[in-house]
Amino acid sequence: MRATSNQGSKMESTGLEIRELPRHVAIIMDGNGRWAKKRFLPRTAGHQAGVSAVRNTIECCVEKGIGVLTLFAFSSENWRRPQKEVSVLMKLFFSTLEKETEKMLENGVRLRVIGDRNAFSEELQRRIAETERATWGNDKLNLLIAANYGGRWDILQAMRHIAADVEKGVLSASAVTAELLESYLSFADLPGPDLFIRTGGEQRISNFTLWQLAYTELYFTPTLWPDFDKHSFTEALKDFAGRQRRFGLTGEQIESRTERSVLAGS
Ligand code: FPP
Repeated sequence: MRATSNQGSKMESTGLEIRELPRHVAIIMDGNGRWAKKRFLPRTAGHQAGVSAVRNTIECCVEKGIGVLTLFAFSSENWRRPQKEVSVLMKLFFSTLEKETEKMLENGVRLRVIGDRNAFSEELQRRIAETERATWGNDKLNLLIAANYGGRWDILQAMRHIAADVEKGVLSASAVTAELLESYLSFADLPGPDLFIRTGGEQRISNFTLWQLAYTELYFTPTLWPDFDKHSFTEALKDFAGRQRRFGLTGEQIESRTERSVLAGS
């Protein structure tokens, strides 16, 4: 299991120091529809407004030095939404990639899409591949967009690849460990999420990165996604900084470890 205690600390704009920053933040961007409804607008206007919150959050991660940001843009279950809404979401995804590639290059953002992309139009698949290729060398922020993604799908695709390797004889069944399974999952080369945020008031994981969320700190806020600004993000980071991550140990064990590392000067 990847133990991802945090490493960096950063001054926020108020001058207050956030001592423990997450290395990886994963977000379920919920509440676009309700944001639009409150304004008597179509649901799709909420998704459009949500793109600005995406931009702000990316900027915030770059400013603070958070290395990985995963955004749940479209779940495997979202295909069941009205056809018009699905089509607007696809168009928005395409146009955002097109418009924002330049900015990603300027800010050192590397984009990766996780999920089963085969269900997307060829045009969108091409656009995704082009943006991934263009931003490949960037290393300031790994931006993972989960699209047609589901945590169960991810575990299933990993299991299918493992089974195929066992069938081919390149792997023995006894070699299948938690670490090995993890290495077949999406973004296996990156640390798992330290902090999970869900906006919009619901308190569910909704088939997000199930395996990787095992030891993640969960943060739920009633703020609707389009209203989630830099201040809201900083509040989530402050909350995370106040948590004690135990990874199965006792609070006393963690405290004595911290004391030892302070005494050792690390
Ligand atoms: C959930 O809100 C939101 C989505 C299913 C889509 C998220 C998409 C965006 C923020 C815009 C595009 C993103 C990128 C990365 C280009 P909801 O519609 O379920 O809201 P509700 O619960 O209020 O109905």
